[in-house]
Amino acid sequence: MTTTADLWFHYGRIRAERDRAVPDTFRWSWTQDSGPGPEVLGDLGGRVIGDLGAGAARHAAHLATHHETGRVIAVDASPAQYAMATDLYGHLAPRLRLVRSDVVEHLHTMVGAYDVLYSVFGALDFTQPRKLLPAVCAALRPGGRLVFSTLAHYLSGAPGQPDVTAADVPARTPDGKATTMRRWVLQEHVWTKLLDEAGFTGISTDVLPLTGDVPRAADTLLVTAFRQAP
Ligand SMILES: C[S@@+](CC[C@H](N)C(=O)[O-])C[C@H]1O[C@@H](n2cnc3c(N)ncnc32)[C@H](O)[C@@H]1O
Repeated sequence: MTTTADLWFHYGRIRAERDRAVPDTFRWSWTQDSGPGPEVLGDLGGRVIGDLGAGAARHAAHLATHHETGRVIAVDASPAQYAMATDLYGHLAPRLRLVRSDVVEHLHTMVGAYDVLYSVFGALDFTQPRKLLPAVCAALRPGGRLVFSTLAHYLSGAPGQPDVTAADVPARTPDGKATTMRRWVLQEHVWTKLLDEAGFTGISTDVLPLTGDVPRAADTLLVTAFRQAP
């Protein structure tokens, strides 16, 4: 049997050792220090909300703690990220539910169940969009909302892809070996077309410019779309 190395083993590990707090704020931007917040998700009162590629679930923990949500479900495929989220925020159950799963598999079990789905540089960036976006659409109730932040261009400054092509970007195995993983960095019009094809409407995009002089950083593309009501 071959097991796939967890390429998210190192992500957020140092922060988790020193910062266990539920964040006071929720940001979409790459640097997490400015720009719009959870208001972009619309009315959260009593809503069923899912975080796709939640990592340590800091955004989901914020929503479950600081907003009158119904249920927040934080989904991540990485065993390391799921373990980190459980350690940091497992105590927020049942308002926050942590799920270790590939998001596409999870969404197939949740048809029509979600009011809101979102991703902050999460699964939307790392999953074949033609497979993921139809599953996202089907998991939303009609009129339900998807919001995600993704790279507006490559970290090198090069523009995103003009078609649905992934790039191999640097990653590290748990034992520190250099490898790559697939990342979809797409131009705005490519996302818009993919969302339209997957059954979304009311699609809007916004570029949040990078603030400050930060190495290996980028502008953020913030995308909102709604599942078509019948
Ligand atoms: C860059 S991290 C972002 C984590 C979190 N949203 C944050 O802002 O800190 C990307 C996360 O997406 C998760 N991910 C990527 N593709 C996924 C998929 N298909 N299913 C579930 N999780 C996925 C990875 O495991 C990783 O934890």
